[in-house]
Amino acid sequence: MEDKAVKSDLVLILDYGSQYTHLITRRIRSLSVFSLCISGTSPLKSITDLNPSVVILSGGPHSVHTHDSPSFPSGFVEWAESNGVFVLGICYGLQLIMQRLGGEVKIGEKQEYGRMEIEVEKACGFFGTKKVGDKQVVWMSHGDEVAKLPDGFQAVARSQQGLVAAVENPLRKFYGLQYHPEVTHTPEGMETLRYFLFDVCGVTAGWNMENVLDEEIEVIKGTVKPEEHVICALSGGVDSTVAATLVHKAIGDRLHCVFVDNGLLRYKERERVMETFERDLHLPVTCIDASEKFLSELKGVTDPETKRKIIGKEFICVFDAFARELEHKLGNRPAYLVQGTLYPDVIESCPPPGSGRSHSHTIKSHHNVGGLPKDMKLKLIEPLKLLFKDEVRQLGRILDVPEAFLKRHPFPGPGLAVRVLGDVTQGNALDVLRQADEIFIQSIKDAGLYDLIWQAFVVFLPVRTVGVQGDQRTHSHVVALRAVTSEDGMTADWYYFDHKFLIDVSQKICNNVRGVNRVVLDITSKPPSTIEWE
Ligand code: XMP
Repeated sequence: MEDKAVKSDLVLILDYGSQYTHLITRRIRSLSVFSLCISGTSPLKSITDLNPSVVILSGGPHSVHTHDSPSFPSGFVEWAESNGVFVLGICYGLQLIMQRLGGEVKIGEKQEYGRMEIEVEKACGFFGTKKVGDKQVVWMSHGDEVAKLPDGFQAVARSQQGLVAAVENPLRKFYGLQYHPEVTHTPEGMETLRYFLFDVCGVTAGWNMENVLDEEIEVIKGTVKPEEHVICALSGGVDSTVAATLVHKAIGDRLHCVFVDNGLLRYKERERVMETFERDLHLPVTCIDASEKFLSELKGVTDPETKRKIIGKEFICVFDAFARELEHKLGNRPAYLVQGTLYPDVIESCPPPGSGRSHSHTIKSHHNVGGLPKDMKLKLIEPLKLLFKDEVRQLGRILDVPEAFLKRHPFPGPGLAVRVLGDVTQGNALDVLRQADEIFIQSIKDAGLYDLIWQAFVVFLPVRTVGVQGDQRTHSHVVALRAVTSEDGMTADWYYFDHKFLIDVSQKICNNVRGVNRVVLDITSKPPSTIEWE
C-alpha cells in the first residue's frame, strides 16, 4: 500500500501541530484520494520518496516569528516547483509560505477566531462557480496575519476585517487558505477542497477500500513466502478480526489464529468471542488460557505504562510458545505475527510547543506498536496500519465480516488492566468491574444507544466511600461510567445520557454489584482527558 498509493495520486500533509491536521487526511480520503500525514519538519528525502502530487502544509499553534517555529526543509520549494507539485498552506501553513517566499507576516492587530465571513475577491479555482463579491462562512483561528504578499501572489478572498483569507500563485502552483476548510464549521470547506484537488490540481482519485483490499492481499502474498506460516492474535475486536480475515484471504490455512484469555477480558468475553469466530467467521481459532500467568505478573503493579509493558511481554511469551507448538506440528516455525494496528496509532504528530518532545517520539507507547519487546522473533504484518477505524469497518464489510463484529466498541489491548486503576489484582476488582460494565453496556444496548456511541465502559476506582445500603453503613468502591462519541478516537466528546437512563444504570449497579455503593459519570472530553483513564 505504501509504494503504489492504490491507483490514486498522493496528497501529503505536512503536520505543524494543528488539532485539525488528521481531519484533513480524512476529508481527502473521503474524496477517494489517498492521503498521508507526516511531521512538518521531516527531511526533504522523506517527502520526495513518497512522490506526492500535492503537499498540504497544515495549521499549527506556532507563530512564524518565533526562532524555533517549525518549517518545511530547505530545498522543498525548489523541489515542488521543478516537479510540478501543487502546494497548499492552511492557516500557519499559509503564513509559512508567505514568509518563506518573500512576503510579510505580522503579529495581528485584529485576531480572528471562530466563525467569520469571507468575500471572494477574484473568481478562481478554489471557489468553483462563485463570483466576485460572493460570501461564505469559514472557521478562522489565527493571531498573525499576512501583511504583504510575495511577488506573483494574489489575494482571492478577504475576511470582513479586510484580512487576506485566500491566496494563489497558479504559475508557481502555490496556494493558501487562512481559514480551516477541513472543519465542519466551514460549511463549504469540503467543496473548496474538492475544487482545489480536482479542478486546480487535477488529481486522480482511486482510493477506495476495494482497491486497498486487492493491493493489501498482493502485498501479503509477496511478503509471506509459500512455505511460511503466520500467527494472528485475535482480541474479538474489529481491528484484529478484519486483519485476520484479510490475511486469511491472502494465505489461507497458513494463518493460525489464537485468542488469549489474559484474565483481563470483559464479562463472558472468551465464550462469546470463541462462539462467534466459529459460527460466523469459520476461522479456526486456538484459545489459550494464560490468565493465571498474566495476573501473577501484574500483582502489585500500579504504574499504567509498566502494566502495558508486562502485558505486551506476556502476550509475546504466549505467541512464542504457540509458534513453537506449531513448529512441532508443521515442521516449520511461523515467521510472522499479524497485528491490527491502525493509522492513528502510528501517525507521527507534531507535538505541542513547549512539550519538549520531538516529532518521531510521539507514537503512543501504549498502543499495539509500542508494547512489543524489541527482541521479539516474529516479524510483524500490519495490514491496517494506514487506515482509520471507519475505513477498517468498510473493509470488513467487503470481507463479509458480520456487522455485529464491525460495530463493536474498541477495546484496548491491555483490556481491563487499564480500567482497574492501580493494582489489577486488588480484592475482587476485576469481577466487580466486569459485572458493572455488563450492566452499563447492556443498558446502552437496550436503550438503542450502542451504535451512537464510539466507546462506553466502566472504570473501577481504587477508593472506598461511605454509603448506606439497607440499614447498613457501607464502605465500598466507586465506579465511573465513561461513554464518548468520536470519529477516530483521537478527539472525543462525552456522551450526553438523559437523566432517567443514568438513574436506572446507577440503581442497577448499586443493587446488583456487591462492593459498589457509588456511581459517578465522567464528563470530560478528549482533550484534555484521554478516553481511557490510564
Ligand atoms: P486514549 O485513552 O489514548 O485511547 O484516548 C484512544 C483509543 O485507544 C484505545 N487504547 C488502547 N488500545 N492498547 C490498545 O490497543 C492500549 O494500550 C490502549 N490504550 C488506549 C482506547 O480504548 C481508545 O479506543
